[in-house]
Amino acid sequence: MYKPKRSLIAFLGFALTAVIAAVMPHTGSGQASQGNGAMELNCDDGPCDAIARGRKAFNDGKLKELGGNGRSCADCHMPSDSFQLSPAAARARFDALQEKRQHNKNADDPLFRPVDADDFRINGDNATDFSNLIENGLVRVTMPLPLNVKLIDPVTGQPSDETFVDLWRAVMPVFNVAIT
Ligand code: HEC
Repeated sequence: MYKPKRSLIAFLGFALTAVIAAVMPHTGSGQASQGNGAMELNCDDGPCDAIARGRKAFNDGKLKELGGNGRSCADCHMPSDSFQLSPAAARARFDALQEKRQHNKNADDPLFRPVDADDFRINGDNATDFSNLIENGLVRVTMPLPLNVKLIDPVTGQPSDETFVDLWRAVMPVFNVAIT
């Protein structure tokens, strides 16, 4: 289950700032220039070694010791998609995965983890319905409910004992964002 940890976010905050500098070619106007293939490290805005480490961390899917699930930041914040995830990109990746699975049943794209399947709350780790992700580009963000907030059960009309709520959120761009 994808639970961003405060320590993970704090750790990667610097990495993120660095990686954004790393993938934005310096144009003098502060704008990213579009689409010319190879990315060069832009070391004008920070120490080059830190920027290189940030870029690596942003693309690292093996953050297991930090509680990761095989995903890298770039799996959702796609550098080729302005660090967002469009429904079209999610759909294309899902279709590509299905095609690969016809030849290799272990083919994987970490974007499609059960935690972001529509049926995760019912089927847990066996969940497979990714409609919301591929049609709308949305992922599940689970938030704990404050102790004094109750959800009303629509069937009974009574307060339920649920302690968290699932929100479906779009992957926002991470340009010009720093976590300190
Ligand atoms: C499962 C997909 C996913 C992964 C993996 C992911 N993010 Fe995100 N990220 C999101 C979504 C969705 C939001 C928006 C959350 C919301 O609005 O509730 C977001 C928001 C953010 C924001 C806030 C942007 C703003 O403008 O406020 C930052 C910064 C960020 N992510 C950085 C990271 C970093 C760094 C990593 C890697 C450690 C990462 N994300 C991994 C989906 C993801």
